Amino acid sequence: MVSRVRRVKIGIDITHLDDFEQFDEASVDLVFTRAEWADVDGDPNHLARKAGRFAAKEAVLKVLGCGLGDISLVDIEILSAENGEPRVRLSGRALEWFQTLSLDQLELSISHHREYAVAVAVATPK
Ligand SMILES: CC(C)(COP(=O)(O)OP(=O)(O)OC[C@H]1O[C@@H](n2cnc3c(N)ncnc32)[C@H](O)[C@@H]1OP(=O)(O)O)[C@@H](O)C(=O)NCCC(=O)NCCS
Repeated sequence: MVSRVRRVKIGIDITHLDDFEQFDEASVDLVFTRAEWADVDGDPNHLARKAGRFAAKEAVLKVLGCGLGDISLVDIEILSAENGEPRVRLSGRALEWFQTLSLDQLELSISHHREYAVAVAVATPK
């Protein structure tokens, strides 16, 4: 039984850029929304940016205490604000879960260096 969370929740994930080298069309639609893909594909740094967004989605899953079978990754959308800061928008089951846990703010930080990207997600309770 899921009950409200009364503490700050943290999630972290690390990904290897190579995993995004041969990302086929079918996989794209399972992982990224059209807006996310448009945000990073074509960027000279696109592999790092895709890997960073994937890490961020998995970090959010850790915050929610869910696995990939429970929530679709496209229900965790990560887009860049004008200043480059990553912003996350939940929908579908991810949003329902977030609300069931009574979480409030959800913030992300992403970093990439050479062959790895990492992300941290933090959520505060209501
Ligand atoms: C934030 C910053 C220092 C990171 O640079 P870096 O160490 O070279 O790069 P990292 O790999 O560690 O981090 C890159 C990620 O930082 C995040 N990021 C970028 N700008 C950010 C900002 N303003 N705030 C928070 N995170 C930011 C992004 O998620 C980016 O990855 P993405 O492009 O794939 O989404 C750099 O992007 C920067 O200087 N941005 C401008 C900051 C700014 O707003 N300056 C004006 C007021 S002081």
